[in-house]
Amino acid sequence: MKRCQSLVDAGRRQFLTGAGVMTAGAAAATVLPAEARAADPAAALVKYPVNRLANLKDLTANEPFDVAYPDDDAPGVLLKLGTRVAGGAGPDGDIVGFSTVCPHKGYPLAYSTGDKTLNCPGHYSRFDCEKGGQQVWEQATQNLPQYTLRIDDKGDIYAEGVDELLYGRLSNVL
Ligand code: FES
Repeated sequence: MKRCQSLVDAGRRQFLTGAGVMTAGAAAATVLPAEARAADPAAALVKYPVNRLANLKDLTANEPFDVAYPDDDAPGVLLKLGTRVAGGAGPDGDIVGFSTVCPHKGYPLAYSTGDKTLNCPGHYSRFDCEKGGQQVWEQATQNLPQYTLRIDDKGDIYAEGVDELLYGRLSNVL
């Protein structure tokens, strides 16, 4: 019984030590400099050189328009979805752009007009173009890289960055 009480005391000490470490960690987190705290949330966007990809007149609703961004080795697509979506560009907020290289193992993706997804013939991953390229099925472990788009007053569509690491690149910096 005495040995049992010793173990209980040892457990209490460990718990209290752990609580002390957690409290110290929380205190350290609250005194981080403002720059360090501000750096984390939106850091996913990778800025590339700005490229003109198309004009509004080139797009037809729910038909993929092939492009390459940020360079010729990075195939992608522009889509006028016909429905306003979060992050959509253009007067109707329905234009989006994505890499069409599967983030799992690099197979080329094909667009499905029926459910507005990009689909992989390799291992059947599917990405929802109305939800920012969110993966909705199978093997990939990241969402589809989506372009940041800007449209000028002439209707020219420019890509200015990508929000995920492109497949096969060790870095998104050119
Ligand atoms: Fe696309 Fe594997 S390469 S799911």
